[in-house]
Formats: sequence, C-alpha cells, structure tokens
Amino acid sequence: MARIVITRPLPPEEIDVLRTAHEVVVHDIGPDNGGDEDRIIEALRGADAAITLLDNPVSARVLSACPGLKIVAQCAVGYDNVDVLAAKELQIPVSNTPGVLTDATADFTMALLLAAARRLREADRYLRDGRFRRWEMLELLGTGLSGKTLGIVGLGRIGSAVARRALGFGMRITYHDRGHSNPTKERRVVAHRVDFATLLAESDVITLHCPLNAESRHLIDASALARMKRGAILVNTSRGPVVDEAALVDALRSGHLAAAGLDVFEREPDLHPGLFELDNVVLAPHLGSATRETRRAMARMCVEAVTAALAGLDIPYRVA
Ligand code: GLV
Repeated sequence: MARIVITRPLPPEEIDVLRTAHEVVVHDIGPDNGGDEDRIIEALRGADAAITLLDNPVSARVLSACPGLKIVAQCAVGYDNVDVLAAKELQIPVSNTPGVLTDATADFTMALLLAAARRLREADRYLRDGRFRRWEMLELLGTGLSGKTLGIVGLGRIGSAVARRALGFGMRITYHDRGHSNPTKERRVVAHRVDFATLLAESDVITLHCPLNAESRHLIDASALARMKRGAILVNTSRGPVVDEAALVDALRSGHLAAAGLDVFEREPDLHPGLFELDNVVLAPHLGSATRETRRAMARMCVEAVTAALAGLDIPYRVA
C-alpha cells in the first residue's frame, strides 16, 4: 500500500478512488497556517506520492528531503512553485493539469475585462449606496470594446481561448509570445504577432497569459506601464509577480491606466494596500479555474498521474 499525501482538501468524490488501493493522507497546509518548506517536508516525509497546490513551496530542499516520492502531481496548470530542475535531478516526476481549466480561466478573464471596462464594481457600489436616483447620461461611463485592440501576452492555450472570446466582442487581436510564431494558431484565432514594445504602445487592453519565470517576472513594470496607452486596461489571470504591483497601483492612481482586473497578486494572499483604496480595479482571489466542473477535472488528472506513477506506468500530463 503506497502512502499518498495531499497538501489541501480536493474534491473528495475524485480522491476517494485512491483510497481503495492506497493510504491517503489529506492535510490542510497553506500560507495562512505556516505552510513553509519545513511544514511541507514534515507532511511529505515518507510519502510515495504527493498532490500539491500552487501556493505550496516544493523547493529543491523539500524534494531532497523526500527521496521516496515517485511523483509530485501539481493540481494547477502553473507549476512555478515546484523546482522542476531539482525534481529532474532527483528523478522525481512532476505533472500538472493543462487543458481542463482553459475555458474556465478564459471566461474569468473576460469577466474581469468586462467588469473593469464597464466599471461594474463602482456601479454595484453606486446602487448599494443609494445613489441611483435617475438615469444619467454622463454617469459611470466605461470603455467600449468593439473595434479596440486587445494585446495578449502569451498565446498558449488560455491566451488563444481569450482571443476567440474577444473576437466575439469585435476586438482586434494582437499578441506577443516568446515562442515560435504559429501561423495555424494565428489564423484560427485571427491574431497578429507584434513585438512587446508595439503591444504595449498599441493595445487598449492588455491581458497576461504567460507562465511565471525569470524572464516574465515584473515584465509589466513601471517602464512597461508608462509605455501603455493612457486610458488602457490591464487584466492579469496568470501569476501575480508578472506585474510590479506597486508600479501598477501608481499607474491606476494617476489615471494613466483607466482600470485593471486582477485575479492574481505578487505576494498572495497579501495584496498591495493601495489596491484596496482604488475604485478602478476589480479584484478576485485567484479564481480563474474555480468552477465545480473544472476543479473536479483537475483533481481527476492528479489521480490519473499518481495512479500511473505508483503502478510504474507512463505518467500522463508530465512536465518533468
Ligand atoms: C491556476 O492558477 C493554475 O495554474 O492552475
């Protein structure tokens, strides 16, 4: 019987299948209750398999302390919290959950974009404050999307899904991606590849869909924000550290950016205090994949990967 350690509760109906053949231990470890490397090591010691979440630090030190692991199944598409180089060196396979959260995250990106562009947060507050006394011609005016340019950073699965949705809103789609140009994909989503400087200068809305790595950390810094159009909108459903949050607060405060929609933050679960003071930013607690269907599908993929690893079979969704 193998020992499978899960760092935080997942949909039980998906996980229960593992209990028929294995010992399954479910912890509740997060950044709010001392979920540092030591706590993860303590939880994973002696485990044959681990299912981890995106705020668990699965560092080289953690992996070295748990040499019995036959897999780390990350229950997220992003895995910047896992030291994959160390995992490769230690020959501990790592898997993730691509694909099943593409539509949910693209939908949520559009929700943030629409809410930011049409000032939904302020509108809701206006009503609750009892200020809706008559229909106004000049009150709470937002930004129209039709005919505007959407700049997508990262035309991967989620970026492409956002492009397809934005086309339906009549937007012109441009993108910047570090990977090779993919004409088939470009044709499918009718997107024009541009360099980063052009994307910054020409986009009315910029939406981020790149992984977090050394090159993308603070990609949107004070200088990038200054090069964005006055009145532009920024949406981030990728990873918080892609944006310099303090610089973004300044750009929103000065009115250089009209608005932002943020689902991810630089130091989750903490937010820059300036964000709470701004009316022109819509905030969500990292909900991109948060539909019942998607979260179950993500858990199911982890179960598949763990089951294969423990049986010595080829591991699906393997990234390292
Ligand atoms: C969510 O942010 C994920 O990477 O799955």
